[in-house]
Amino acid sequence: MCGVVGYTGIKQASAWLLDGLQTLEYRGYDSAGIQVVSPSGNLHGVKCAGRVTTLRERASVANLNGTCGIGHTRWATHGAPTDRNAHPHLDCSGRIAVVHNGIIENFQELRRELMIAGHEFRSETDSEVIAHLVEEAWAGPARGDVARAVRNATDRLEGSWALAVVCADLPGTLVCTRNGSPLVVASTDDGAYAASDIMPLASVTSHVLQLQDRDVATLSPDGSIEICDRDGRPVAHPPSIDIDWDASAARLGGYSDFMAKEISEQPEAIERLLAGRLGKHGIELDELSLTREELSAIDRVVIIACGTSYHVGLTAKVAIERWARVPVQVEYASEFNYNEDVLVTEHTMCVVITQSGETADTLTAARRMRGMGCNVFAITNVLGSTAARESDGTLYIQAGPEVAVASTKAYTAQMVAAFLLALRLALAKGLMSPAEVEKHFHGLELLPGLMREVLSRRWQDKQAARLFRGKVSSLFLGRNVSSATAYEGALKLKEISYLHAEAHPAGEMKHGPIALLEPGFPVVAVVPADHVRDKTVSNIMECIARGATVVGVATDGDEQVAKLCQEVLWVPACPDPLLVPAIAVIHLQLLARYVARDRGFDVDKPRNLAKSVTVE
Ligand code: F6R
Repeated sequence: MCGVVGYTGIKQASAWLLDGLQTLEYRGYDSAGIQVVSPSGNLHGVKCAGRVTTLRERASVANLNGTCGIGHTRWATHGAPTDRNAHPHLDCSGRIAVVHNGIIENFQELRRELMIAGHEFRSETDSEVIAHLVEEAWAGPARGDVARAVRNATDRLEGSWALAVVCADLPGTLVCTRNGSPLVVASTDDGAYAASDIMPLASVTSHVLQLQDRDVATLSPDGSIEICDRDGRPVAHPPSIDIDWDASAARLGGYSDFMAKEISEQPEAIERLLAGRLGKHGIELDELSLTREELSAIDRVVIIACGTSYHVGLTAKVAIERWARVPVQVEYASEFNYNEDVLVTEHTMCVVITQSGETADTLTAARRMRGMGCNVFAITNVLGSTAARESDGTLYIQAGPEVAVASTKAYTAQMVAAFLLALRLALAKGLMSPAEVEKHFHGLELLPGLMREVLSRRWQDKQAARLFRGKVSSLFLGRNVSSATAYEGALKLKEISYLHAEAHPAGEMKHGPIALLEPGFPVVAVVPADHVRDKTVSNIMECIARGATVVGVATDGDEQVAKLCQEVLWVPACPDPLLVPAIAVIHLQLLARYVARDRGFDVDKPRNLAKSVTVE
């Protein structure tokens, strides 16, 4: 959601700014723009609604000579995605330019005040007030000091922001700050860089600094970075974060799209995650900041997440309750934040699951839980993300950069991370012996092989995708742990193919959704060989009796399902049915991708969606 980039140094700024924005495309956006400061001390920029490729075309015919500049991809919140509303935004004089990720909650009152003071607004965005506030400060006591002008301006703001600001009067100075929205900076031999996340920086450095909230960084062309707190006092640099994957990890490498690449990367991601996790005394999970005694005393787990990560939470609930016998409550972060305080005791553990580690609702919920005295454990993919920094313990899933907006490899890796947590809890509570834990761990170790087998059957998904031609809606069903898989399958299909899909626990179908069924209506039933298989088979029969076209996700050799269903997406037998969601979902990821491509859509950048949802 909104991407910010900035550069000052010895190279022409526009080339890297455009490349940086291209790399940030995955965050989701609907317009883009860049602004550079020319050596003669003027601002030149281009911006447009639409893609970075369009911006590039415009930039190629504009005079964007300058070695310092800022860029932005905008995901519209206030004001339609138009050329005018695209960032950067300028002050009245056209000498100060600002890019912003976040939401300024008090922008209406600031805008009124600034208009009364004579400022002219050119856009409908909340962000433009920042340019005018910097202008006000620059005209007053902060003249000649961009960092101070930015500090004065942000003192007036309520909400969240990551900002990069340049001023034509001080070519070469780039000022950045943040509050709630992510922003990293990096110092290199050819200058200093800023970006919303590490992805665009991976090609220029292997170390970045994550700014602390409200700190203001001044970046200079020699690569130096000075950081001050909100009162202007110099502060030490935060510990640097090492980028532990090379830039090629964020490139297609022969795949037609990132979604295909990331679906295929799942076996390796799980292998990386499991490596070294089995110790002499069971599961090694040092990331937990709890002693064995504290772990054994945990009597309740609250899992908080959004979207796909929430579906991981639903699967984790079944595993933790089954193996560790601890009751688990799974909450949508966006809902949880407005509920009454849950009863938290010193024995409650909060688990936040977030690929990006920057989802605003999830961060708010985690802070609330910490505020109530709860130990917060984060399962995340992004190194140094806010969720990681603010939690008592963090387990990195090490899935590598996930570029496609629709989450795939993070889903299965987060799930396996949750399985490890469940086993660790079971061991601490004495509900499993080290030998039993080891047995379960060996079950997890089989997953990469089973995943590869499912991946080799992608032709089944391609074939099943044809059943969705000409359809407008579909139903996904599953029972027990497979209901989470059904939810995830429906979400994947919706987000990239724009076909309506809804998921229900199979047993709920008779309480309403069955009314949707008519001849040819597509139903996807997740029905692996487990203790609820027969019940789901009955539900399949109910669908067929109403003429529905059923695609089954079933275990190899299930002849009854083969006879009932129009198409079957086969999964190999798994030693523990609890682990099946990690392989069954791959079929649903592939199915969604084939349906979306069949309909001619860009699977990596679905409309309206943002990879990292940094506003509530
Ligand atoms: C769907 C998807 C989203 C995210 C959700 C939470 O494919 O990716 O539903 O799962 O926005 O994001 P994280 O996990 O980054 O907190």
